[in-house]
Amino acid sequence: MAERPYIVGNWKMNGTRAMLSQARSIDRAAQNLMKVEVAIAPPYTLIHPVHREAGQIAVGAQDCHPGAEGPHTGDISAVMVADAGAKFVILGHSERRQDHGETNALVREKCSSAIEAGLRIILCVGESEETRDAGKAENHVTRQLKASLPENLDNAQESLTVAYEPIWAIGTGRTPTVEDIGAMHRAIRATLSDMFGEEQGAAVRILYGGSVNPDNAFELLSADEVGGALVGGASLTAESFLGIVIAAAELNDQPA
Ligand code: PGA
Repeated sequence: MAERPYIVGNWKMNGTRAMLSQARSIDRAAQNLMKVEVAIAPPYTLIHPVHREAGQIAVGAQDCHPGAEGPHTGDISAVMVADAGAKFVILGHSERRQDHGETNALVREKCSSAIEAGLRIILCVGESEETRDAGKAENHVTRQLKASLPENLDNAQESLTVAYEPIWAIGTGRTPTVEDIGAMHRAIRATLSDMFGEEQGAAVRILYGGSVNPDNAFELLSADEVGGALVGGASLTAESFLGIVIAAAELNDQPA
């Protein structure tokens, strides 16, 4: 990992104010682990409280509506999460694609409105087990990437992070091999270079996500073209999340 690794916790639908103590512990530890960029995406209800607590870590949202405002009961816009203190938003997570029928076209609209609101985006892509077994994983993921991103994304290296999350690895304890992760990340890198040019394409960070924990983090993060991790279950306690952050810091210390 050449650049500063990026470790992002996705709390999903977990967390009440009682979990703010975990965020505080993560923030405090992150102040001594400056080699790693650490961030948390809590549920909407905790964005502002975590933002108020955090001195070091960035806070983000897990989704947003494509519009800025209007008659959409229960929805939250990018402008609103930015106002609450979010600096980024996770978009296109497979749980949203599955549970809410989100299409690539909708994810693309959300990306545009998030960028317009001044947020950075973490765009998730990943294949199902059937797609991988059929030998179509790379094709599926690179198509998803192209169809989910706005074409006119200026300054991709600043505004965009891609997270490769094989659906079959999320919350299952199963992970791809380091070789398979490397191959997919190289395919994503090539697609980003096609879309945004060599220089921008090379600078966009590509995270791996899916059953990352403190025991496997060092190995998974050492895969080719992996710039960090998007972490679900293991981000829910400061202890396990920081285990992953420390693994990233140790790996980053190693001579290239
Ligand atoms: P997991 O989730 O770490 O619990 O597998 C990752 C994610 O969905 O972002």
